[in-house]
Amino acid sequence: MAAFAAKISSAATFLLLLALISPSKAALHAHYYDQTCPQAEKIILDSVKNASLYDPKVPARILRMFFHDCFIRGCDASILLDSTPENQAEKDGPPNISVRSFYVIDDAKSKLEMACPHTVSCADIIAIAARDVVTMSGGPSWNVMKGRKDGRVSKANDTINLPGPTFNVTQLIQSFSSRGLGVKDLVALSGGHTLGFSHCSSFETRLRNFGPGHDIDPTMNVEFAWQLRNKCPKPNKDRSAGQFLDSTSSTFDNDYYKQIMAGKGVFGSDQALLGDDRTRGMVESFSKDQSLFFREFAASMVKLGNVGVLEDGEVRLNCRVVN
Ligand SMILES: *[C@@H]1O[C@H](CO)[C@@H](O)[C@H](O)[C@H]1NC(C)=O
Ligand SMILES: *[C@@H]1O[C@H](CO)[C@@H](O)[C@H](O)[C@H]1NC(C)=O
Ligand SMILES: *[C@@H]1O[C@H](CO)[C@@H](O)[C@H](O)[C@H]1NC(C)=O
Ligand SMILES: *[C@@H]1O[C@H](CO)[C@@H](O)[C@H](O)[C@H]1NC(C)=O
Repeated sequence: MAAFAAKISSAATFLLLLALISPSKAALHAHYYDQTCPQAEKIILDSVKNASLYDPKVPARILRMFFHDCFIRGCDASILLDSTPENQAEKDGPPNISVRSFYVIDDAKSKLEMACPHTVSCADIIAIAARDVVTMSGGPSWNVMKGRKDGRVSKANDTINLPGPTFNVTQLIQSFSSRGLGVKDLVALSGGHTLGFSHCSSFETRLRNFGPGHDIDPTMNVEFAWQLRNKCPKPNKDRSAGQFLDSTSSTFDNDYYKQIMAGKGVFGSDQALLGDDRTRGMVESFSKDQSLFFREFAASMVKLGNVGVLEDGEVRLNCRVVN
């Protein structure tokens, strides 16, 4: 009995691993809701636009939400499920993932449920909203493939599988490739940091006592390091203190790569892209050619949207709870 249970549990672990890492074969379509909910994309865009008008941080947060959703258990809206008394959900996971603005998705969902009940998945709402925030901020547009189903599982501990701000290029490549994403996707999607802000905790180890012989991370521009030290004093009473990830933080552009070229990448994992032969060339190209970056970013977002897509999930009625 015990051996049988062990067998079942190792099979379950294996399946779970597969679900975590393999890009699935479920086919998505650009015209998935054309018959069943032709107004879906318009409804989502309206919610995203309105929310961004009231809160300029919404675009960066929605883009980050999509990335996090797809990296954990695939693009299945597991990031949206709330914790319950029995289960701590992904959004309350251990590294401080600080994904916020879930209300924007809730707003779109409630309008979609009025217009076309039980039709548009929460996973598709995130994917469409992520495209919308990029386009609205001056970035590229693309056709979002649709037809994802929502998952029923969300576990806080899964968030330890997210790539961290201190990852080196080998770790980054490994993290992306286990989701079926290549080196180009890594460099292009990192450019999403063009919309973003970080709290001091994610980069302050680069600013003081960095390592033997180096007080400051030697890959960082020294003047920039001193600016960041002023923003992130020790001790720091202001928990909201931090830094925008490029110098044009509300515009989607290739400034992120220009900053890296100047030694002004904020995370170690940003600046590392310049220091490695496998990624340096693409950083240089994207810094010089914004339309190349836009094309590659759009292509990589479509690929990201295919990661771990579920065929047998559900369409949640409320994005925060399983049906
Ligand atoms: C727009 O967003 C604001 C702030 O979130 C909200 O109070 C308002 O109801 C929204 N308006 C519409 C038309 O959804
Ligand atoms: C995560 O960040 C929030 C907001 O900055 C803070 O209130 C919370 O204490 C942090 N949690 C951990 C575990 O660091
Ligand atoms: C997460 O993992 C840690 C270490 O493996 C474990 O102690 C903890 O109970 C887990 N938490 C949850 C909510 O599963
Ligand atoms: C990257 O980080 C890993 C884990 O810390 C380490 O084992 C590896 O040597 C590092 N690789 C490079 C090229 O620095």
